[in-house]
Amino acid sequence: MPALAVLTSGGDAPGMNAAIRAVTKVAAARSIPVWGVEMGYDGLIDGELRPLTRQIARNGQSGLLTPTAEVEAMGSLGGTTLGSSRCARFLSREGRAQAAAQLEKYSITGLLVIGGNGSMAGAHALAAECDVPIIGIPASIDNDIGLTREALGVDSALNTIIEACDRITDTARSHHRAFIVEVMGRHSGYLAMASAVAAAADGVLLPEQQRSREEVIQSVTDCIVKSFDVTRDKTRVLIIKSEGVPIPSHELVQEVLARLGPGTNIEVRSTVLGHLIRGGNPSFRDRLLAGRFGLVAVDAALKGRTDLMTGWNLTNRGEATSDAWIRLFPIGEVLEETRSLLDGSSAVTMDRVRRMEAIQGVLAL
Ligand code: F6P
Repeated sequence: MPALAVLTSGGDAPGMNAAIRAVTKVAAARSIPVWGVEMGYDGLIDGELRPLTRQIARNGQSGLLTPTAEVEAMGSLGGTTLGSSRCARFLSREGRAQAAAQLEKYSITGLLVIGGNGSMAGAHALAAECDVPIIGIPASIDNDIGLTREALGVDSALNTIIEACDRITDTARSHHRAFIVEVMGRHSGYLAMASAVAAAADGVLLPEQQRSREEVIQSVTDCIVKSFDVTRDKTRVLIIKSEGVPIPSHELVQEVLARLGPGTNIEVRSTVLGHLIRGGNPSFRDRLLAGRFGLVAVDAALKGRTDLMTGWNLTNRGEATSDAWIRLFPIGEVLEETRSLLDGSSAVTMDRVRRMEAIQGVLAL
């Protein structure tokens, strides 16, 4: 008798709950019970699973399944109601063997892993060591997962950033101030890049630009001076800095103020948005994507396919599915593409940096 398990792993992302809901509803509609694994791979190793479906009898018909009340309520919520972890034990073969034993104990015939890079690497390793089909669903606000145009959480995170920038702009304009707004993205500048365009920022600082500390400080100083030049009508300067640029925002403000000199009347402030970006209800697009990923992932697991990830990808790479937008990719290929995305050698990263350079002068940096 088939049964699926679903877990969320790594940094939470808006849309994870919507994906759990989608997976559970699709499986329940196919009379497949679903177990929710608590706290990511940690819960899998320790056998902490709870049912996400329950049996109902209707019109004398037995064997019907329905999602639990928890699942019915979770789809619109941010975070992950199953809980998540960055699990060091899963990095060892021994830890993964314990996890495989738990899958066997619960008679799980398919595991769905919702998470980012580390979670996909874990899924890839486990798939090679156990017979249970494993399908990944990409979720990470950083948009640093290869072969999917967007991961779950990215759209919601960008909407939150834009709202924050609008609010900061209100107060910045009132005082004619310059603001450096730091957004998440440990290794990827995507959130900074995309939000800078949408918020009409004056500058953007990305780890992919690989600028020296000196270049970063000077470019921010130049941007502020140029933007507040008397010939222009600007009443605020907004610079979006990615977390991955290795200079703390408050230090950057001090360095810039030092360069502007003691006589300056320009005020520079910084705001670190941090985890604020990761929370909040998923946007329409993240909920939609969660539903589309969920359907394809469940069908692949039920067909016994393994070591694959769903991706929003409009090219003809990977494997076509019942959804024209969603394709399946071997997780090994995803991990390879992710590496080149982060080290700058991927065509996707090069194109992003090229497009940012092409709009220099629109963005002042
Ligand atoms: O989810 C990815 C991410 O948001 C990174 O951008 C950030 O650096 C990191 O997670 C923070 O993770 P944690 O909450 O574990 O400190």
